[in-house]
Amino acid sequence: MRKVTLTELFSHPITQKYVKRAGLAHAISTAYHAFRLAKENGVNPDLATKAAFLHDMGHYTWYRNGKWDFELYKQNDIHAIKGAERAHKLLVRCGEDLKVAKEVSLAVLLHTDSYLPDENVNRTPLQQVVKEADELDEEPDGKHHYREISDELAHKKLNDLDEKINQAMLERPLSSSS
Ligand SMILES: [Fe+2]
Repeated sequence: MRKVTLTELFSHPITQKYVKRAGLAHAISTAYHAFRLAKENGVNPDLATKAAFLHDMGHYTWYRNGKWDFELYKQNDIHAIKGAERAHKLLVRCGEDLKVAKEVSLAVLLHTDSYLPDENVNRTPLQQVVKEADELDEEPDGKHHYREISDELAHKKLNDLDEKINQAMLERPLSSSS
């Protein structure tokens, strides 16, 4: 039913590099929020948790003179665009269904308004769930990107979440795009 699990995604070198760079603990917390919100809103939890786990993998560190520069970030950031592309590449490499890869990638693309010229984006329920899940885990001054988690605990949490997703999809089968 699910072609690729979160634990399989976690072990891939692309995830190890880019999801960790943006904050592994934040990615996992966002995936848990997305799971709950997906169930509440009748959204496919497989797609929601994948998009939530990968949503920030396009982040780049904006530094000036050795210090984080929020102005540079605000002016030049395109992390959602890069993230959408990286998430798609990762999912395809892991053998994901192409329709799922596209839906997840689009949800990554639209998880934030920060880089969009117009904030009035008409999001699908899946895209809205991922955006809200991210916002639920955000901390002031971007501190959520710096929370730490060991690889061992990360693997356990993702494995637990995979089991919850499998169970939820058995209880309530959904089409891949809902
Ligand atoms: Fe985020």
